[in-house]
Amino acid sequence: MTLWPRTPQFNDDDYPYVNPSKDRKVALITGGNSGIGFFTVLHLYLHGYVVYIAGRSKSRVLKSIKELKEQADRIRSKYSGSLINERFLGELYFLEIDLLNLNSVLVGAENFANLEKRLDILINNAGVMALPFSMTQDGFEIQLQTNYIAPFVLTTKLLPILERTAELSTNKVPPRILYLSSIGHKFAFRYFNMNSTFNYKPNIIFTWFRYGLAKTAGIHFMKMLALRNPKILSMAVHPGFVMNTNLFSYWTSLPIIGIMFWCLFQIFGFFFGVSNEIGSYASVKCCLDQNLSIEKSNGKYFATNGVEAEPSSVAKNMDYAARTWIWTIHQLSERNINIPN
Ligand SMILES: NC(=O)c1ccc[n+]([C@@H]2O[C@H](COP(=O)([O-])OP(=O)(O)OC[C@H]3O[C@@H](n4cnc5c(N)ncnc54)[C@H](OP(=O)(O)O)[C@@H]3O)[C@@H](O)[C@H]2O)c1
Repeated sequence: MTLWPRTPQFNDDDYPYVNPSKDRKVALITGGNSGIGFFTVLHLYLHGYVVYIAGRSKSRVLKSIKELKEQADRIRSKYSGSLINERFLGELYFLEIDLLNLNSVLVGAENFANLEKRLDILINNAGVMALPFSMTQDGFEIQLQTNYIAPFVLTTKLLPILERTAELSTNKVPPRILYLSSIGHKFAFRYFNMNSTFNYKPNIIFTWFRYGLAKTAGIHFMKMLALRNPKILSMAVHPGFVMNTNLFSYWTSLPIIGIMFWCLFQIFGFFFGVSNEIGSYASVKCCLDQNLSIEKSNGKYFATNGVEAEPSSVAKNMDYAARTWIWTIHQLSERNINIPN
């Protein structure tokens, strides 16, 4: 519930429905088993997309697939007239990927490429927020790897199949890459430096700088892809303040003070938040809106409900974006992951 009704400019009927047996459209989303990702998958599924939900827990993803199917059936049971015979459900599959393990990302990308000949939409949705400082087995800070490094590896490994899909596209609709950034990217201030780990105390402050750094790097990534891969439409998204997802679970499950954080987040959500489903609208619009084009929208940033917005001056600085790209390529090559330059 929120203080005033948010009336999003969103109508599923504005976006095309496809019949997967005649026109197979394939999407891959990370973290589609909860929160914003769940509703993003629901809309794509209702529009006839074949959706691969990449996650680290098979049981959690399979449970969400069951719920998605039930929810889609409930929605379709309310269709009027002949709509039920004109609109087709897509397909839902689990793909194993743990973003905290880059080898799992590489294997997941390879498995996907062996399963499908095309990829119309890649949604880098999975993320974590405001965790205490820790390093992954790959030697990156945990928020940086989950929110930026692993999506970078996954996306660059899937670029060949996205490029191939662009060649196959007969109706000039380009394949799309989305990156779920956040308004929190604005915590990355001037003198942006990818080597900063912000491993300082108190965590409650410096953790936001680490989140901001990762989410800014993600916007840089979309801007660089827009330059380097102009046949693919790459966009960054801020979904809104969506306070009832699992993103806040580290803070709300802290002993004793967790309840205080929960209340704080609920009050904030009451005044400024949107529901999990409305939180998915920016992603759904960027996935399906046929008015978004390479010419108008490549490398752009979209906020709540898919309204085009300006990211921070650091995020839109192309010198920083190029430096972030080069830094990432070097870091990965030191770990024997080579990205064609
Ligand atoms: N909620 C907001 O207010 C808000 C605001 C701005 C931006 N965002 C961004 O929106 C995106 C979705 O967030 P949400 O609010 O929907 O949060 P959520 O409910 O916590 O969903 C996050 C998803 O990411 C997955 N994930 C996390 N770590 C992973 C890993 N190592 N490997 C594979 N999957 C992993 C989670 O899977 P598990 O279930 O296995 O943990 C979950 O499915 C995030 O990128 C977030 O930063 C959210």
